Amino acid sequence: MALIGVFDSGVGGLSIWREIVRLLPQHDVLYVADQAHVPYGHRPLEEVRRFAEGIARFLIGEGVQVVVLACNTASAAALHYLRAVLPQVPFVGMEPAVKPAVQNTQTGVVGVIATPATFQGELFASLLERFANNVTVLTRVCPGWVEAVEAGMLNTPETEALVRSCLEPLLEAGIDELVLGCTHYPFLRPVIERVVGPGVEVIDPAPAVARQTGRVLAARGAGPSRGPARRRFATTGDPERFRAMLSRLIGVDAQVEPLRWTPGGLLERVT
Ligand code: DGL
Repeated sequence: MALIGVFDSGVGGLSIWREIVRLLPQHDVLYVADQAHVPYGHRPLEEVRRFAEGIARFLIGEGVQVVVLACNTASAAALHYLRAVLPQVPFVGMEPAVKPAVQNTQTGVVGVIATPATFQGELFASLLERFANNVTVLTRVCPGWVEAVEAGMLNTPETEALVRSCLEPLLEAGIDELVLGCTHYPFLRPVIERVVGPGVEVIDPAPAVARQTGRVLAARGAGPSRGPARRRFATTGDPERFRAMLSRLIGVDAQVEPLRWTPGGLLERVT
């Protein structure tokens, strides 16, 4: 029986969760949101790495066969490290989808939006080195977007103003590809598409992450769960708030398990 562990700082990773469940409906999934620490994007990489390690150890303790970092920031901070210190399970990480954007652009200018920490990590530097070629890759951080999604302000005039002020410089620079480099941003897609208009392709890597998760499970020979697949959700924040967001963002009604951080940096169930 395969159990897939998925985590993010908050609700953003649910944009990955829904693709995983669509593609791999036969597997159990345990989703952890570290809402005690959201947002991750402004924190030092070492701190995000510690959180990611605590969550990964918790998920491994719960018996997962694969851990999906449904968070670009945690991937930038911790993916290589987690693979080195926890070799017993495979990790699927994320990086902004620069490659398809560079392949598809007609204007030769692409935009990548993500958190400050994602742009600082080595992963992003190596992406540019490998794929940017002769294309101009413009990066932009988007203040307030993660907080707006966490607060459920998905399609309000305030959110549209935040989105517009962040994207306008990219539009003026002539982008025709926009890479969503943070898993919270797909929940703002209707507003983003309204702001950028039909001439800009918006790229969300979630389906590619789900496919990669499927390949990793297949390589491990992981079979489907016996009986109906279980979907578990847990948060280090407020379970009732998270439950309301589950229904709002992905149309799921489920119990949410409370988790807490120990002073030693371990994650444990609140019983
Ligand atoms: N959703 C995360 C990401 O993909 C983290 C956002 C945050 O907590 O700042 O980067």
